[in-house]
Amino acid sequence: MTANRFTLDDRLPADYFTDTLRADVLQGLVAPPRTLPPKWFYDKRGSDLFEQITRLPEYYPTRAEHEILTRRAPEIAALTRASTLVELGSGSSRKTRLLLDALTAGGSLVRYAPLDVSASALEEAGEAIVRDYPGLDVTATVADFESDLALSDEPGPRLLAFLGSTIGNFDSAQRRAFYRTLSLALSSDDVLLLGADLVKDPDVLVRAYDDSQGVTAEFNKNVLAVLNRELGADFDPDTFDHVAVWNAEEERIEMRLRSRAAQTVKIRDLDLTAEFAPDEEMRTEISCKFRRESLTAELHDGGFTVRQWWTDPEERFALLLAVPN
Ligand code: AVJ
Repeated sequence: MTANRFTLDDRLPADYFTDTLRADVLQGLVAPPRTLPPKWFYDKRGSDLFEQITRLPEYYPTRAEHEILTRRAPEIAALTRASTLVELGSGSSRKTRLLLDALTAGGSLVRYAPLDVSASALEEAGEAIVRDYPGLDVTATVADFESDLALSDEPGPRLLAFLGSTIGNFDSAQRRAFYRTLSLALSSDDVLLLGADLVKDPDVLVRAYDDSQGVTAEFNKNVLAVLNRELGADFDPDTFDHVAVWNAEEERIEMRLRSRAAQTVKIRDLDLTAEFAPDEEMRTEISCKFRRESLTAELHDGGFTVRQWWTDPEERFALLLAVPN
């Protein structure tokens, strides 16, 4: 009997998806320079494409982080003695199992609390984890951690994992707000486990976001299919090119969609038309890359002290433990 060890709490406001998507599109697409937040990539097809991306030879971050976690999970378990593992944006939670294995072997863990905007991803992953970890309660929460951190009565100490360098999707102002909210929500014995991709050779970075099989291009264009379906827009994805550039100033990869020609796109449900000039670009994602010194400093500003900093042997990716100041 596993059902009673798995609960799912849906905290998303009614109409969250349509309301937030509409607001984001209204704000981002009305006038150039056009931008869309990356969270709209992840419908069923987008999530499948992202899974494929994580297995591409050029996309090193998932493998590098997995390498570090494999090596450091026992230390993480010993240092934190966590009773609850909270995971933000857990998705398919493949890497989570490395942490669950170490924390259950260490004997401290009683609860896994994943938080994601996708109820179906939480159900699928949650059921499997309840099945495979007989002593564990799984309390899943459907929420958008940008607006609702949804930490509550979990037994402490809590280990809050935010992996995959998803932090890189935030600009510095968003990261600052996020650290602040998080540090206020955590108690003094809780610990943050953060995965962050590091600055490196721009060629390596660009290849990771512009792979030879074109999977990332499909992933990028999929956001147009989401807008077509959810808002009755009439984007023709074939008239846009996938672009990935290294912004050296901001130390981030930017993904964009470039309109091949002058065209007018209608977004029916918003009564909006968008005129694209030839070669006009719409930014769909930022993926910030980090350095040890500046990331440590911005975390400190946001209320955290970095206690451990681990990288893979090639120093492509970092995993860090930080505690509230
Ligand atoms: C899931 C946000 C960490 O920025 O590397 C992969 C998403 N975008 N390829 C990243 C992504 C294009 C990924 N994150």
